[in-house]
Formats: sequence, C-alpha cells, structure tokens
Amino acid sequence: MTIVRVELGARSYDVRVEAGLLARAGDLLEPLSRGRRMAIVTDAHVLPHLATLQASLEGAGVDSEAIVLAPGEGSKSWATLEMLTDRLLELGIERGDHVIALGGGVIGDLVGFATSILKRGCGFVQVPTTLLAQVDSSVGGKTAINSRAGKNLVGAFHQPELVLIDPQVLDTLPARQQRAGYAEVVKYGLIDDFAFFEWCEANGAALLAGDSAAREYAIAHSVAAKARIVAEDERETTGKRALLNLGHTFGHALEAETGFSDRLLHGEGVAAGMALAFGFSAARGLCPGQDAERVAAHLRAVGLPDGLAAAGIAASGARLVEHMLHDKKMDAGTLPFLLAEGIGRTYLDKTVDLGEVAEFLDGSVTATGSDIV
Ligand SMILES: NC(=O)c1ccc[n+]([C@@H]2O[C@H](COP(=O)([O-])OP(=O)(O)OC[C@H]3O[C@@H](n4cnc5c(N)ncnc54)[C@H](O)[C@@H]3O)[C@@H](O)[C@H]2O)c1
Ligand SMILES: [Zn+2]
Repeated sequence: MTIVRVELGARSYDVRVEAGLLARAGDLLEPLSRGRRMAIVTDAHVLPHLATLQASLEGAGVDSEAIVLAPGEGSKSWATLEMLTDRLLELGIERGDHVIALGGGVIGDLVGFATSILKRGCGFVQVPTTLLAQVDSSVGGKTAINSRAGKNLVGAFHQPELVLIDPQVLDTLPARQQRAGYAEVVKYGLIDDFAFFEWCEANGAALLAGDSAAREYAIAHSVAAKARIVAEDERETTGKRALLNLGHTFGHALEAETGFSDRLLHGEGVAAGMALAFGFSAARGLCPGQDAERVAAHLRAVGLPDGLAAAGIAASGARLVEHMLHDKKMDAGTLPFLLAEGIGRTYLDKTVDLGEVAEFLDGSVTATGSDIV
C-alpha cells in the first residue's frame, strides 16, 4: 500500500494506492459520509466495481445512491451536467457532503466540475477505474466539460478530498484503454525522470499484461510525480505544471484530425505526440537522435503509435498546425511547445516557429510511412 500526499495547504489530500482497496473503501469513506447517504456517480461499463463499492459502504454502515451515466466522452456535456446536478440536488446534497466519482477521466472530470458549482462547491472523492484516470486525471483538481468550441473549455480547479486507487479494477479494462493510459505513465519518465523511463522499458509489458506489482509501482510513482508538480504549480501559472502536457500539443492536433473519436484515443494521441515532440527536438538539433528513436521504439514495443503514420494520420503539416492554433494553450498569440534536450529533460519553449513544425510534420509522414500498425 502506498499513500501519496498532495500538498496544497488547506486543500491537501491523500491518494491511496492499494490492490483490493475498493472492497475496503467503505471504512475510509464512512468519515466523509456525515452519517448520511452518499451519492456515487459512475458509468455503465463500471457496474461490477460499483457493486463492490456499494457492498463495502454498506458494510461500513453507509447507504449509497448510484447515478449511472452513459459511457464515453459525450457525457462531459452541458446536458449531462444539468441532469447530474439536478439529480444530486434532488438527493439533498449539502455543501459538506462528498460525491464519489467512480470511473475513468470522463466521470472524474464531470463530477469534479459538478461538485465545484453545486451549492457553490461541495466535496468529492475520486475512485478512478482507468489507468489514465489512476495515473493522471484523478489527481490535481482540473475538472471540465466539453463545449461546442472544444474539449475541456468549461471547467474549474476543484481538488478532491481523497483519491482511492485500486489497481485491480484494471482487470476489466480493455487492453487498448490500458495502453492508452500507459502513454501517460511513460510521460512522467520522459518529462524529468530518466530512471523511471528505464523502468518502463523493463517493466511496461508486464504492467500491461496485468502484473500487480508493476501496476502498483507505476501508479504510485506516477501519482507521486503528478502530486509534486501540482504542489509546485497548482494552477499552471509558473510553467511547471505545463510540463504535464508533454506530447499534448501534437497529440491534440491528431485527436482533432480524427474528430476526437475512437479512431484515436487520447493516450494514443499523446503517445504519437510525445514521439513527435522528441522527433522535432532531434530535428532541431536540441536532442540526440538516438533518444528520439529510443522513445519511439518503446512506444512501438508496447503497441502504441510512434508517429503520424502509426496513428493513421495522413493530414498535411499545415492542417495539423491549424488544429494546434485552436488549442486552448494558446498564450498571447504564441503556441508554447514542450521540447526535449533528452529523455528526462524537457522544457517549455515559447519561440517555436509554426512553419518549421508544419515542415517537420510533412517530413515525418514520409519518414515513418512504413511503420503503419
Ligand atoms: N482532469 C485532468 O487532469 C485530466 C487529465 C487527463 C485526461 N482527462 C480527461 O479524461 C478523459 C479520458 O479519461 P479515460 O481515458 O479514463 O476515459 P473514459 O472515462 O471514457 O474511460 C474509458 C472507457 O473505459 C470504460 N471503463 C472505465 N473503467 C473501466 C473498468 N475498470 N473496466 C472496464 N471499462 C472501464 C469507460 O466506460 C470508457 O468506455 C478525457 O475526457 C480527458 O479530457 C482529464
Ligand atoms: Zn493526457
């Protein structure tokens, strides 16, 4: 069992990582229930785990009410937010109450935002059930829904009171979703932790095959890395938290090109995006070519896309840059890029010429054109 403390002054909280934790969660949640019924928000793919959680709460003497939403990104919408907040108000949620978000990043982001506005802010607990949510979205307090203008454009910073991570719930997660979440694990190594990248090279395959020690280690290590960065820069003002967006500017362009559909999952876009960020850094002479190739090789080895072709993208560089310009990370007209001097050595560069990026992307289609998987 590992407990990671996210140090944010009065908003500090614990993240507990432990195999089998869901079945024991009732005792940890009971103190947050104030002797009342707790609401659990989840999606229809998570029902087996909902049953475990409800049984555990019942064992601790806590009644619960489940709100089961449609799975998928579509639930991060105004319509679902309205329905959810109405339902929570019907249940009599008060400011001191805690709503439980049981699911992937979609449920966590939606419940986080709903609770940030409900009664001007009530509490919530994250119980993430995808690898992506366990290593990334459940920690750090970014919450959002999507709007017509783009993804995650309407939201709030709202930290959870507690995060309970049971790696065993990943047993039911489809392999493709596991790999997509794993891209965010690799990301922590690439950002500033070369030794962890080496650990990924040695243990990534075992983790994806369901090895419980590897899972627990990777999740705890990733959460600790995220907690450290969030504690330093909660609201992404100093540039430190922006490092967590490694691969995301390129990745979002690829996601936009596929219409944010199942053709390319977020983590798959991030994987290809990280390979491109390293490839671009190498092309600019900032980073050794062999580091860029090593990143791509690890992503390939675990079945993640390592570039445009593998991600199934044939668009021109100019078109992809156009997508980037719609990215919310536009800062006073410039587009900051996370570039690398090597594996574990990344930095924010605000001087990147977008024409150069487009040219690189056009070249990279032909360079990796034989790698289609
Ligand atoms: N807040 C943040 O800091 C942050 C960070 C990264 C991503 N995100 C957001 O997270 C979302 C993506 O999260 P995600 O990848 O977890 O997607 P998701 O929540 O859609 O889950 C992926 C799929 O897995 C299913 N699922 C969840 N748990 C399962 C389980 N244990 N067994 C079987 N199926 C299960 C879901 O129903 C869904 O079909 C995006 O909306 C993204 O914007 C937020
Ligand atoms: Zn991401």
